[in-house]
Amino acid sequence: MDLREAAEKVRENAYVPYSKFKVGAALRGASGTIYVGCNVENVAYPEGTCAEAGAIAAMVAAGETEFTEALVIADSPTPVPPCGGCRQKLVEFGKAEVKLTMCTTDGAETVMTLAEVLPGRFDASHMERT
Ligand code: THU
Repeated sequence: MDLREAAEKVRENAYVPYSKFKVGAALRGASGTIYVGCNVENVAYPEGTCAEAGAIAAMVAAGETEFTEALVIADSPTPVPPCGGCRQKLVEFGKAEVKLTMCTTDGAETVMTLAEVLPGRFDASHMERT
């Protein structure tokens, strides 16, 4: 199964009673294993979690801390970009040159690197004086 298929499939399980906006995400771990996540909303809205966060949690829970490819998909008019918070979550576990594919369910795709989606990222070097 490829990343797109995996993300499409998990997207169906998204729990989205409030936004009705289903998102699926898939990561290819450095081992080659694919990890997936969907958004899980909550009646206390800020407690909801994004699809990317779910996929990252699945990867880390399985014992991996690096991915080499990422993909996110939603039924949106243009390829769905990860929210700002998810960009920061993604760069924690993926190198700058890792490709992120943003998709619509209609088949449109935009590919960018992690560095492109989060320029000027905050990283551990900013804490070096502490
Ligand atoms: N959402 C994601 O899961 N990932 C994104 O990158 C963008 C937004 C979810 C959060 C919420 O459940 C719904 O989409 C609407 O914001």
